[in-house]
Amino acid sequence: MSKNILVIGSINVDYVIHTDRLPKLGETITGSDFAMNFGGKGANQAVAIAKAGCSVKMLGAVGNDLSGDLALKNLEDCGVDSSEVLRVDAPTGAAVITVCGGDNHIILDVGANGYVTPKRIAERADLFAWADIVVMQYEIPTESVIAAARMAKERGKMVVINPAPVKEVDAELYRYVDLMIPNEFEAQLITGIAQNNDDDARNAIAKLREMGCQNAIVTLGGKGCAYGVGDDVHFAGIYKVQRVDTTAAGDSFIGGICSKLCEGWDLDRAVTYAAAVSAITVSRPGAAVSIPVASEVEEFLKTHTIGEH
Ligand code: RIB
Repeated sequence: MSKNILVIGSINVDYVIHTDRLPKLGETITGSDFAMNFGGKGANQAVAIAKAGCSVKMLGAVGNDLSGDLALKNLEDCGVDSSEVLRVDAPTGAAVITVCGGDNHIILDVGANGYVTPKRIAERADLFAWADIVVMQYEIPTESVIAAARMAKERGKMVVINPAPVKEVDAELYRYVDLMIPNEFEAQLITGIAQNNDDDARNAIAKLREMGCQNAIVTLGGKGCAYGVGDDVHFAGIYKVQRVDTTAAGDSFIGGICSKLCEGWDLDRAVTYAAAVSAITVSRPGAAVSIPVASEVEEFLKTHTIGEH
């Protein structure tokens, strides 16, 4: 029987400009290739899961505005069930993104995402019976993330957390987490361990476990990722591609991991698949739109080999 994934998180519209360098304070510079894209860490992860062919519902909120209409339509077009997305009297979440040399800088106004409250989570408690895996990030109130993780855990469901954008949360949360997926920067802020080499990644995973998480994957940008397997830590490299826009690199990786865990794959195989999803995503501009469907990933895997870590 196929499994269900519930993503509780943000839905944004991204306003993107590409530039060769960043402006100084008070300076105006010229960029290019302006685009309005569908994004939000929650929505991107839900889209990645749906495009991988899994059953996924999104619990979130958008405004009663045109951006909200378009973002909801995009979720549905990508195969995400958006029936649990609230419409509220606040602007749909907006992210202003500058892409510079393939990398990005993001400024976010969470807007309607702030309406995904603990009360709303409690009202939709039946969704935790439906879901096998619950996936969350920190672009909604963190009290909601904790409340949802507690409810999911009480029902024996798998809890996956992407602690982005990183912030301080009550330590209670870690007790409910099955899989924590921070990047290097987030891992450093959460564990206090600076991330400079493989031992630092090993120690960060050990520390996250000490804090209560069952397991963790630390993504290491162009160096791949580190992930716990039993008492050991394994490392994976990346698929080398021409990097056009790293927006949603992490989100597509997390979606790839969750979709394969849902199918019962082990982490070694799931990480390799997710690395391919992420590689294709960064080779294209945009957020949700850049995430590949399963058949594209399968084609890619036939012709590409993952690099050494
Ligand atoms: O992770 C990328 C996402 O972060 C963007 O789509 C933007 O909306 C911000 O939330």
